Amino acid sequence: MKPIIAGNWKMNKTIDESILFLESIKNVIPDDDKSTTILCPPFTSLFAVSKLLKNSNLSLGAQNVHYKTKGAFTGEVSIDMLISTFVEYVILGHSERRKLFGESNSFIKEKVSAVVNAGLTPILCVGEEIDDRLSDKTQLVLKRQIESAISRKKIINKENFIIAYEPIWAIGTGETATTDQVEDAHTFIKLVLKNIFGNNGQNIPIIYGGSVHVDNAKSLILANDVDGFLIGGASLDSESFCEIIEIVSENYSRG
Ligand code: PGA
Repeated sequence: MKPIIAGNWKMNKTIDESILFLESIKNVIPDDDKSTTILCPPFTSLFAVSKLLKNSNLSLGAQNVHYKTKGAFTGEVSIDMLISTFVEYVILGHSERRKLFGESNSFIKEKVSAVVNAGLTPILCVGEEIDDRLSDKTQLVLKRQIESAISRKKIINKENFIIAYEPIWAIGTGETATTDQVEDAHTFIKLVLKNIFGNNGQNIPIIYGGSVHVDNAKSLILANDVDGFLIGGASLDSESFCEIIEIVSENYSRG
């Protein structure tokens, strides 16, 4: 398995700024295929970025999508619209979507099925609030989020599904989960996936997100069952993003 590094730009960068970013990483980004690197710019930059990613090792992801194919959904974007900009991955269930925009587990389930059906790969985000952790409910929350997002398990396999474990209290706070906390959560998620999918679930990649930066990337990627990162803040800066990619490529060692 190759490690996965996804940069979630959130609501940052105009088209010009996105192009500048791409130009500055062009010569720095390792020109090998040791890792799967995915850029998730805002919708407005997708097309411009996709043109620059042609003939590169980088892939394009979107930060959200609607599951309906078309219609009266003001402000939404469909899967076909994403495909027309050459998107291959879609972040779903990000805690900011759940918390700030009221996305429920059942809404996320519809999106997961639609995205997989269309041949794209969801990056399904799951994670607990600090109160869940303090009251020992982390596993309960993770199990519920994963099980409720997967309605048709036959269409999901290790090639078309990525889970991102993102403890909400660690997102954008500078507070990273300890390697022990990350290992515990990832091992538990693996178990949940095994229960749903049998052995096939064992190889679904599980990446970590939540204040990943250059200084903690090495210890986190060496942790058990961590197959890469979903990076917010540190993915906005081309130097730190490229450095993290290098750290991951050098230190990830699962077959
Ligand atoms: P962060 O964001 O790296 O800025 O904590 C991660 C995410 O929200 O995916």
